[in-house]
Amino acid sequence: MEFTVSTIEPENCPCDLLVLGVPEGEIFSGPVATIDQALGGILQKVVGEERFTGKARTTLFFHTHDRIPPRRVLLVGLGPSSRITTDHLRQAAAIGVNTARGRHLRHIGLPLLDRFPAKEEAQALVEGTILGGYRFRKYKRSDEEGMVEGVELITTPDRREEVNEALRRAAIFASATCFARDLVNEPPNELTPSRLAEVAREVATQKGLRCTIYGPEEMRQMGMGAILAVAQGSSQPPRFIVLEYAPPQAKRTVAIVGKGVTFDSGGLDIKSTEGMETMKMDMAGAAAVIAAMSALPDLALPVRVLGIAPAVENLPSGTATKPGDIVRAMDGHTIEINNTDAEGRMILADALAYAVQQGADEIIDLATLTGSCIIALGPICAGVMGNDQGLLDRLMQAASKAGEKVWQLPLFEEYLEAMKSEIADLRNSGGRYAGAQKGAIFLREFVGGKPWAHLDIAGPAFVEHEEAKGPYWPKGSGTGFGVRTLLEYLTAISEEPQEQDSGKHR
Ligand code: BES
Ligand code: MN
Ligand code: ZN
Repeated sequence: MEFTVSTIEPENCPCDLLVLGVPEGEIFSGPVATIDQALGGILQKVVGEERFTGKARTTLFFHTHDRIPPRRVLLVGLGPSSRITTDHLRQAAAIGVNTARGRHLRHIGLPLLDRFPAKEEAQALVEGTILGGYRFRKYKRSDEEGMVEGVELITTPDRREEVNEALRRAAIFASATCFARDLVNEPPNELTPSRLAEVAREVATQKGLRCTIYGPEEMRQMGMGAILAVAQGSSQPPRFIVLEYAPPQAKRTVAIVGKGVTFDSGGLDIKSTEGMETMKMDMAGAAAVIAAMSALPDLALPVRVLGIAPAVENLPSGTATKPGDIVRAMDGHTIEINNTDAEGRMILADALAYAVQQGADEIIDLATLTGSCIIALGPICAGVMGNDQGLLDRLMQAASKAGEKVWQLPLFEEYLEAMKSEIADLRNSGGRYAGAQKGAIFLREFVGGKPWAHLDIAGPAFVEHEEAKGPYWPKGSGTGFGVRTLLEYLTAISEEPQEQDSGKHR
């Protein structure tokens, strides 16, 4: 898909499909009025007859019969004027590209709206187009849909530079997101821990990142007893993946850590049939981390970033870890494994301790950690928890810019009591209530007091339910959730250097 920026009037854009976002109840403002005039008032009639009001995500499609250069026009409702966000533009663009693909149309015209800064509008439109056009077709023989070849972003001459710059950034953000989706969508027989490590190494070679991959022997030497316990039930060896982006001018280090369980059967505390069906997605955190790392050299941000992705399979077998086993994590904590299905926090325990040991000033982890988080917030929203409100606020700000829903959950000290074992320092499961928070407070024990934020992405990482589907969230697919939030976050802290110690943390 090729993007161009042009300053033609929308009604003169020679394209197969002109996509116009329209506010509810204010359809005939802006280019739509001009187009209606050019068509001799037909549009007014069609809108009336079809009872098109501009409600969010509704559409009106019509042919122009050669009266104006765009051959077809698609109006996409944005909802009530006062409630329109840039994510409505992202969705409108996604609806546009899907309409075009379904009808084998190749060239789209996509005017900016002039409601938000040009930078933000252009970014949302480009992201929506790329993310909405995404398909995972690798294992399909044929494809009934067409491909969009060209997208013309239409703006005014004074905003052209800004739009160009935003286009470049948005293409990087969206491609990285699609890369994460591809990794999540790969089946678990293909994407094993070793394969994920190979992919990370390929990315590093292509993009000029440093890359270190540890195998089980090295993990044993480093004392990573928690990851090894999870890995021991599988004949696939674990991999501890570390990518590093280190620009010379960097003053501080952010570690991003992603859960990489390439398949989670639950281990001996085995999952139900339904619970297991989509568990290839349990490496979505690792995918987001590797994908975000892959974008950093292109974005050239002046901050050092460590991307850490522990990768394992969680399977039951004669060598699998058992409920009751006690293991020692890298930082010395002992953990009683009372539920082998709480494996994500085990592998993150060692990964977080490793991040601290490597001198991270700040840590963000992403993990498909708990079913509880989906119960609490639904499948469209991630839970965010941590020990430093300044970091959490900056991260939530970044998520809102990215159009990714995150909501903070509290870490009451009482939750920690539930994670203490009678005979070890900690246990890995603390009962059914507040499961997302108990998982998070367990992780907090391993960050050595560093500012830390945890994103529980169990819900939004993968579109399993109809209710989570959206114009750029295809059903049965990974979403790449977290990639754009991470990139927005790293961009924001690069632009305004933050004070180190923004609040209380432990
Ligand atoms: N990978 C699962 C969490 C999950 C569930 C992700 C559904 C996506 C969709 C995780 O490893 C898990 O099994 N968590 C347990 C923890 C419990 C045993 C403390 C859970 O949430 O039930
Ligand atoms: Mn599990
Ligand atoms: Zn899991």
